[in-house]
Amino acid sequence: MKKRVLLTRILHDFAINELKKRYHIEIHSGKIPIPQSKLRSKIKNVDGLICFPYDKIDRNMIESAKNLKVISTYSVGFDHIDVEYAKKKKIRVGYTPEVLTDATADLTFSLMLDLLRRVSEGDRIIRKGKWNVIYGAFDYVGVDLQGKTLGIFGLGRIGGTLAKRAKAFDMKIIYHNRKHISKNKERTLSAKYVSFEKLITQSDIISVHVPHTKETDHLFDMKVFRKMKDTAFLINTSRGKVINEKDLVMAIKKKIIAGAGLDVFEEEPIKKDHALAKLENVVLTPHIGSSTKETRSKMAEIAVKNLDLGINGKKPVYSVGY
Ligand code: DGY
Repeated sequence: MKKRVLLTRILHDFAINELKKRYHIEIHSGKIPIPQSKLRSKIKNVDGLICFPYDKIDRNMIESAKNLKVISTYSVGFDHIDVEYAKKKKIRVGYTPEVLTDATADLTFSLMLDLLRRVSEGDRIIRKGKWNVIYGAFDYVGVDLQGKTLGIFGLGRIGGTLAKRAKAFDMKIIYHNRKHISKNKERTLSAKYVSFEKLITQSDIISVHVPHTKETDHLFDMKVFRKMKDTAFLINTSRGKVINEKDLVMAIKKKIIAGAGLDVFEEEPIKKDHALAKLENVVLTPHIGSSTKETRSKMAEIAVKNLDLGINGKKPVYSVGY
């Protein structure tokens, strides 16, 4: 009898066809994300799960899954999964790093460029019919990237790839991690390790690339914003909850910092009347860090491979924990 696999959302045809060859699959349709109660009843008898970042796979959910051998998430982030408990239950967890590194670094860089050169704001000015005078010395002036200090908080795969792009734009790069990267890598990226305090006080732009954990929850709050330069910008393409959004809105309104570029939010999706959406010097995108045709397709490929391996008791290509 074929093993049973549940997908909480549709994937590419090639991935579905591949899965159908080997498994009895069920794809959730209807409300997204799948309601927790529905997921809890569906997960009961499946051997494998392909899930997405909004699907909360907590201890209770794992407890309901009697046959589950693998959780394959279509994301690099896995803060929605109780990885420790999955491990305890000998359930493999696969994720999709690497293939999305370039796409996410590109999006991060484009948020920075847009913000500093006021691209989206300019677009809004034209669309609202507010472009009335041209080419004054002080009209719509932005800020140069060249020579500015980019502070990367979390220099891993995505942070490192962002550093490469920033280097090409002649930016100075400082970073803060729990651990130093190798001297060799520091040299290649021209990145200098600094303390968190120095990162926040010296950077012209801070880009956040850390997972959401107990330690990083609301780490960027008013206390941090007050230490940043009042000309500094904050970019976040990692997880929304690393930033205290209420404080961020206040910090931008009060000109404590200059603005923000955000792809992720405390609660997603945000609505058009969200406080951040009312600020001009903020660029917002709807959690699209990895969203390119090529990358999303590679992620599907990896998600299927991870599932295949895990469901057969093997270590996924990209495995969290074990
Ligand atoms: C990821 O892959 O984690 C993206 O941020 C989507 O959640």
